[in-house]
Amino acid sequence: MSKILVLGGTGFVGRSLCSRLVDRSGGADGSIVVPSRRPSRARHIQFLPTVRLAEADVHDEAQLARLVAGCDAVVNLVAILHGSAADFQRTHVDLPAKLARVCQAANVKRVVHVSALGVSDRAPSRYLRSKTAGELMLKSAKLDLTVLRPSVIFGEHDKLLNLFASLQAVFPVVPLGGAAAQFQPVWVEDVAAAIVRCLDEPATIGHTYECTGPRVYTLKELVELAGSLSGHPRPVVPLPDGLTRLQAAAMEWLPGTPLMSRDNVDSMKVPNVATGQWPGLPALGITPAALDAIAPLYLGAGQGPARLDPWRAKAGRG
Ligand SMILES: NC(=O)c1ccc[n+]([C@@H]2O[C@H](COP(=O)([O-])OP(=O)(O)OC[C@H]3O[C@@H](n4cnc5c(N)ncnc54)[C@H](OP(=O)(O)O)[C@@H]3O)[C@@H](O)[C@H]2O)c1
Repeated sequence: MSKILVLGGTGFVGRSLCSRLVDRSGGADGSIVVPSRRPSRARHIQFLPTVRLAEADVHDEAQLARLVAGCDAVVNLVAILHGSAADFQRTHVDLPAKLARVCQAANVKRVVHVSALGVSDRAPSRYLRSKTAGELMLKSAKLDLTVLRPSVIFGEHDKLLNLFASLQAVFPVVPLGGAAAQFQPVWVEDVAAAIVRCLDEPATIGHTYECTGPRVYTLKELVELAGSLSGHPRPVVPLPDGLTRLQAAAMEWLPGTPLMSRDNVDSMKVPNVATGQWPGLPALGITPAALDAIAPLYLGAGQGPARLDPWRAKAGRG
C-alpha cells in the first residue's frame, strides 16, 4: 500500500500516526497526504519526510474527492468534542457520508475510521450519538472498512492529563464534575500502532476493535494522578450532578474551547470502558501500555512539553 490520506492527521492521534506512517512509507515522497484547514499551525506534521500537508476544506465534497483520488487507503481522524447539534452532524455524520461517497466513486476501498468507545444510538450525548451515526454511514457503504473505538487517549500531547496537571499548578483545589466517571485510558502510540496494523492486515477488514488500556480509572483518579505526577497534588472535590451541569454550562460561555461542556457531562454517564463485545488491542498483536508507566515520562517535573518552559521564559516566550 503506497499512498495514504489521513483526514484529521494534524491532531493528537494524527501526530503519532504520521510518524509511524513515515517509517512505513519507505521514503516515497508525498505518500502520506494530510489535509488541514490551517496548515500553518501544523508544523509538527509539515516537516515529517514523505508527508504532504495540503490546505483543504474536507467538508467540500469536490475537494475531498480530489484528495481521495489515487489513494490506496484513507484514515479518518476528524472529530470534535464540543459544538452545536449542527456541528456534530456536519463533522461526525456528514463528513463520513461524503467520504463514503467519494471513496466509492474513486474506487478507493480501504478506510480505517476512528470512532469512540461508548457509541450507541441510545448513548446519552450528542458526541456519542453522532459518532454512532458516522460509523453507520461508512458501514453501509461498500468499503473495506475497519473501525477503531478508543477510550480516552493519553500521551505527551494529550489534552486531558496535561490540562489537569496545568490547572493544579495554578489552583489550590480542583472542583470536579463527573468525578466517578470511568475510563480505560489507552496510549496514543498504541492507537497509532493499531491503525497501522489495520492498514497492513487485510484480515482486519469488516471488523471493529475496542482500544483500551489495561486499567479502569475514575476521572477523580486521573486528575489526582496528573496532579501528583506533575508535582502539584491538590485536593479534588467531587461536585454533585446539579453543580456539575452548572459548571459545564458556565464553561461553555467562557471564551475559547471549554474544559467541559454539558454534552461531555452527558457522555460520562456511561462507563467509557471495554465492553468485551468486540476484540481489543491484543487481537491486533498489541499489548496496551499502562498509564502508570507512560504518564510519568511526560507529566513528571521537567518532562514533556513543560521541559522547555525555562528556555521559553529565558527567551521571553513564556
Ligand atoms: N483524544 C481522545 O482522547 C479520543 C478518545 C476517543 C476517541 N477519539 C477519536 O480519535 C480521533 C482522533 O482524535 P484526536 O484527539 O487526534 O483529535 P484532535 O486532536 O482534536 O484532531 C482532530 C483533527 O481533525 C481536524 N478537525 C477538527 N475539527 C474539524 C472540523 N470541524 N472540520 C474539519 N477538520 C476538523 C483538525 O485538523 P485541522 O485543524 O488541521 O484542520 C484536527 O487536527 C477522533 O475521531 C476522536 O473522536 C479521541
